[in-house]
Amino acid sequence: MSKSSTPAPPPQQEHETTMFSEFFKKFKRLRLFEPSVGVLGFFLVTVCVICCFFYFDFRAVVTKGYAGAGKSERFMWLQSNGSGQEFKRVEFLSEEGDGCDVFDGEWVWDDKYPLYQSKDCSFVDGGFRCSENGRPDLLYTKWRWQPRHCNLPRFDAKMMLEKLRNKRLVFAGDSIGRNQWESLLCMLSSAVSNKDSIYEVNGSPITKHKGFLIFKFEDYNCTVEYYRSPFLVPQSRAPAGSAQNVRLTLKLDQMDWYSVKWRDADILVLNTGHWWNYEKTIRGGCYFQEGAEVKMEMAVDDAYRRSLETVAHWIQSEVNTNKTQVFFRTVAPVHFRGGSWRTGGHCHLETLPELGSTLVPQETGTQFKIVTNVFSAYSNKGLKLNVLNITSMTGRRKDGHSSLYYQGSNPAPMHRQDCSHWCLPGVPDSWNELLYGLLLKREASQGSLFGI
Ligand SMILES: *[C@@H]1O[C@H](CO)[C@@H](O)[C@H](O)[C@H]1NC(C)=O
Ligand SMILES: *[C@@H]1O[C@H](CO)[C@@H](O)[C@H](O)[C@H]1NC(C)=O
Ligand SMILES: *[C@@H]1O[C@H](CO)[C@@H](O)[C@H](O)[C@H]1NC(C)=O
Ligand SMILES: *[C@@H]1O[C@H](CO)[C@@H](O)[C@H](O)[C@H]1NC(C)=O
Repeated sequence: MSKSSTPAPPPQQEHETTMFSEFFKKFKRLRLFEPSVGVLGFFLVTVCVICCFFYFDFRAVVTKGYAGAGKSERFMWLQSNGSGQEFKRVEFLSEEGDGCDVFDGEWVWDDKYPLYQSKDCSFVDGGFRCSENGRPDLLYTKWRWQPRHCNLPRFDAKMMLEKLRNKRLVFAGDSIGRNQWESLLCMLSSAVSNKDSIYEVNGSPITKHKGFLIFKFEDYNCTVEYYRSPFLVPQSRAPAGSAQNVRLTLKLDQMDWYSVKWRDADILVLNTGHWWNYEKTIRGGCYFQEGAEVKMEMAVDDAYRRSLETVAHWIQSEVNTNKTQVFFRTVAPVHFRGGSWRTGGHCHLETLPELGSTLVPQETGTQFKIVTNVFSAYSNKGLKLNVLNITSMTGRRKDGHSSLYYQGSNPAPMHRQDCSHWCLPGVPDSWNELLYGLLLKREASQGSLFGI
């Protein structure tokens, strides 16, 4: 802003300035011609200054006192928006919160976090139990996601379980989806005192590489389920007569065969992305197929796009979106420094988020654009889908990965770090808090999701 356009001071301020200069003129006159009155004036001004000093100091003490007494939230919500003015954020669930982009914001330190401890939660893979596996710092558990223009509701496990009563919540996707699912199991189970009332319906243990796991919260007659489906489309043996190097194909025009089980969920959270790269497809002899034809030349990004179109079409044609609320979670960025997961990339020295910017690898950025393009095109054609747009916020959390602490007792070798998955408690908890906020918001605005 240029000097010339600086607005005139408001009348009140102008008035005070005048008063003060007049007072000062009088004061000077007094001191020059009536020394004894001048000394008295000087004395009064000094007293005044000292009083002011004590007044401001007192205010500081009061403010600190509030913070110490755990009422700091009152002050934390007051933030400068850069113009020197302070504003109070609206509540996301209120009417004024309509249209607030909850994915636009920042990570703020919050001593009340984490929401649970992994040692109290039996539903976590060893690979995500970083602190128990020897991760020395706990800083990564202390960050809360704060949208820029509104406040999210604080996560209330009892409330969410109540909302899920007699319902099914299904996650389908890759192991990062599993990461999020386990996070939610822990968040919810923290409100259940009898842990035996939460169980896998087929008695399967929480171990990797199972096709699916269905946990029931008996007191609420609800299930929170995970279906492993890294591509969301089926992978199967190559059709007869394929070229010799074709071992497997991904059928881009069909939905994963288990999708019949997801279709009738009340809430469905999909994700796919981490497996859509050369390494995990073509390099291993897995090519792309449409109809009966194996597309030998098709690039991975094009295949990803086709598979997402299949997902969108499936939601439109097979899912009753009056009953089932469908979410698609965008890709969570990896943070390998100095290499990739195959070549000794690392992240074990990261103990703080990237506060000012986000670190999104180029491939992830490309995938994000494909997701956005496909789903926005379909939403113009009436697709009912909520995107959990977590790529950018998650890109800042280079400190949140399992790194060396994904196996019991001994840290992993330096060159075999996990900078894809996330420690629990940790970053996926925030995705679930956003999911919770969006579910409540929908209920508030439509009153339909939970049948009220
Ligand atoms: C800051 O907040 C004030 C009061 O709500 C508003 O008038 C102003 O436009 C805001 N400035 C910016 C840069 O957002
Ligand atoms: C996703 O969130 C980021 C961060 O706020 C924002 O820049 C981007 O526009 C959002 N994208 C979509 C498609 O909503
Ligand atoms: C439990 O929930 C299922 C839906 O997931 C429902 O069909 C069934 O009737 C519920 N059982 C009871 C006892 O309410
Ligand atoms: C979903 O709800 C809309 C509006 O209430 C209705 O027109 C439509 O028939 C419903 N669809 C199904 C599959 O029930």
